[in-house]
Amino acid sequence: MKSHISRYNNVLIGDIEPANRLFLAPLAGLTDSPFRRIARKHGASLVFTELISVEGIVRNNSKTMELLNFTEEERPLGMQIFGSNPARMGEAAKIVTGLGPDLIDINMGCCVQKVCGSGSGAALLRDPLQVNAVAEAVVRNTHLPVTAKIRLGWDDDSRNYRDVVKSLEDAGVVMISVHGRTRAQKYTGAADWEAISEIAALSKVPVVGNGDISDYADALRRLETSGCAAVMIGRGALGNPWIFSGRTPDIEELIDQILAHCDLMSGWYGEYGHVLMRKHLAKYIHGKRNAAAIRGSLVKVNTRQDVVDIMEMLREGEAHSSGADMPAGA
Ligand SMILES: Cc1cc2nc3c(=O)[nH]c(=O)nc-3n(C[C@H](O)[C@H](O)[C@H](O)COP(=O)(O)O)c2cc1C
Repeated sequence: MKSHISRYNNVLIGDIEPANRLFLAPLAGLTDSPFRRIARKHGASLVFTELISVEGIVRNNSKTMELLNFTEEERPLGMQIFGSNPARMGEAAKIVTGLGPDLIDINMGCCVQKVCGSGSGAALLRDPLQVNAVAEAVVRNTHLPVTAKIRLGWDDDSRNYRDVVKSLEDAGVVMISVHGRTRAQKYTGAADWEAISEIAALSKVPVVGNGDISDYADALRRLETSGCAAVMIGRGALGNPWIFSGRTPDIEELIDQILAHCDLMSGWYGEYGHVLMRKHLAKYIHGKRNAAAIRGSLVKVNTRQDVVDIMEMLREGEAHSSGADMPAGA
């Protein structure tokens, strides 16, 4: 059965047509290959790597190149790169193209000092001419569709998204994702969906709205009201890949998902994958009855058995909670 999120025309990104209009947003250190596979399985129709340094790519830095590894199950997959020097961006685009992703995305939204300090990420937004030069360099050096992910501007006094969008269109970018905040806001305040809608209306290329989508109904509402071609979900997908389908898992389905995630992590990273699993576990148990008690154990997770033990705590807590919720006398 077709999900009702695909009752609209799906977005066409060059010659890529994702199966619906819900995408997974890139989250550094979190949306790795295992998580991308999970998101795809749950219905995200397009996934992205985290932002990857063009300097690292051009120098063939092994840690950087590892971030570009992926499996076929993730397709369609966008590889997201960041940098500020057009020539280096072009070189990196050629290398990335050779790795065979479905599209290349340019990060123009990252707010961390390490990235902005070198003129990359959201710092590019301060200069629409540079936005154009960087995007054009990537477009010229790949046959793949090129997309960009932006914020609304650098700060409240420079919400220059109209100029930035025009620069990107002129460069040949075929889709623009918009996180509805400025760089100065980082993650504070609320995403400005009115500005996102304005961009969706003025842009000649499809626009993907992003920011603060917390559940499936919210995603549908944003699709309905923003005029965006698609929406992208980041933090809301952590510990809740069901956000892409609208399903609510019961406790056994949740546990199965956590253990499957754990096995994907160890398959990808080896035993250390269990340590990396800690941050996902914290998200999966969020809001559960004995989450506070479990949270204390997360820092000690090193093996699969540690995860299995935590699942037992989770199961016990939930059994307790359904009993507690029963009406008196039931
Ligand atoms: C921990 C973390 C890491 C992020 N890493 C990236 C990244 O690598 N590339 C990128 O374009 N955006 C990155 N973002 C921004 C998200 O993609 C997204 O734009 C933002 O979180 C708002 O969407 P959300 O409310 O659905 O999470 C990151 C955000 C967070 C919280």
